[in-house]
Amino acid sequence: MITLNNLTKDSISITLKCFFGFEDTLTEELTELGYKDITKLNRAVQIKGTWEDVYYLNLHTRCAISILVEIAQFRIHDEQDVYKKAAQIDWTSFFRSNQTFAIKGAINSSLFKNTHYPFLLVKDAIIDCFRDKSMDRPSIELKTPNILIDLYIRENMLTLSINTSGAPLFHRGYRTETGSAPLNEVVAACLIRLSGWDKKTTFLDPFCGSGTILIEAALLAAGVPSSIERQHYAFKNLKNFDQKLWDKIYDDAPKNARVLPCRIFGSDIADEMVLKTRANLRAMSFGKLIAISALDYSEIQKQEEDIFILTNPPYGQRLEADELDLYSGIGDWLKNTMNPSTTWIITSNEDGPKSIGLRPGKKYNIYNGDIPCTFRSYETFSGSLKEYKSKANENTKS
Ligand SMILES: C[S@@+](CC[C@H](N)C(=O)[O-])C[C@H]1O[C@@H](n2cnc3c(N)ncnc32)[C@H](O)[C@@H]1O
Repeated sequence: MITLNNLTKDSISITLKCFFGFEDTLTEELTELGYKDITKLNRAVQIKGTWEDVYYLNLHTRCAISILVEIAQFRIHDEQDVYKKAAQIDWTSFFRSNQTFAIKGAINSSLFKNTHYPFLLVKDAIIDCFRDKSMDRPSIELKTPNILIDLYIRENMLTLSINTSGAPLFHRGYRTETGSAPLNEVVAACLIRLSGWDKKTTFLDPFCGSGTILIEAALLAAGVPSSIERQHYAFKNLKNFDQKLWDKIYDDAPKNARVLPCRIFGSDIADEMVLKTRANLRAMSFGKLIAISALDYSEIQKQEEDIFILTNPPYGQRLEADELDLYSGIGDWLKNTMNPSTTWIITSNEDGPKSIGLRPGKKYNIYNGDIPCTFRSYETFSGSLKEYKSKANENTKS
């Protein structure tokens, strides 16, 4: 029988799931956190580690959506094999009958006509495991289960894992207020990393909405984990939960930042959004250090220092003519007022960026949740290109 105790050895297989296109970004983050031997998968990366790593990474990753610990991997030949393999696991060693559970995951296999069926088979195996030991059967709770099991079948390989995060890690615990089109927190953190912001140059989001980009930038610059406000982690519901180990990891994490290494500021045309950003910032130790104003982006004046802009202007699936004007206005404002600056824009529409009238430096195709987007960079500078390049070279040398 496979028990939870089998998974207390030094090299458990840990899978960190991420959004499409951010596998390299997550790999870079893990490398910075000191991890080696990282295997890149599709929408995930994998490492070997311990339960300490599982707790630590749940708190410290900004770029992963959830963290799975593999229970077992089996080769299957037909549908009924799913039940037989899941029945080899002693589920009573993982959780108690008074706890709730759910099974989620993905089935990419020609063995199944109905992709819901394997989930039912695993559910039956779990319930039968409790019944066979004359224990009460645990209940299923799809929304907020105590225990979340991950089932992944790719052709004839079946992997069963425990999702140690539970609710996805973009539930950071800091955002109580949102607008109608908030950026996903994990996407915001990944974009900041992808942009290569140096955490020293002044940071601006002129379309800040409820402030996600500004808050993730400030947390990164302050070295405070993005999930520091989050209370819920599903690993706390497992039978092997080590409260002392978790307390140590949590206590060791930086929580407060009374100073930031650079100026971070933002604005939005809508008073309501400015109030929401301020409300979200209130819980942060550095909240008061981030100035938020109610302004049309074009009212933001030239700054004395170099500016790094990372922003998510409004976009519909199909832009109306006045929204195209907005993008061409942004281009003019960048050229005429925000120079020198490095600007990164995430948008779901191809037409908007074409109206900006600046040649993008880099371009990535990414997803904000399930919305396909592009993420492009633009450089603006005052004086000639030659002067700008030689100044940039000097800065790199110093
Ligand atoms: C896609 S939302 C930004 C969402 C934000 N990233 C978040 O996570 O909440 C775009 C924002 O642009 C603001 N906006 C629209 N036109 C603007 C303008 N001309 N100047 C400044 N902000 C504007 C909207 O009020 C909206 O909050």
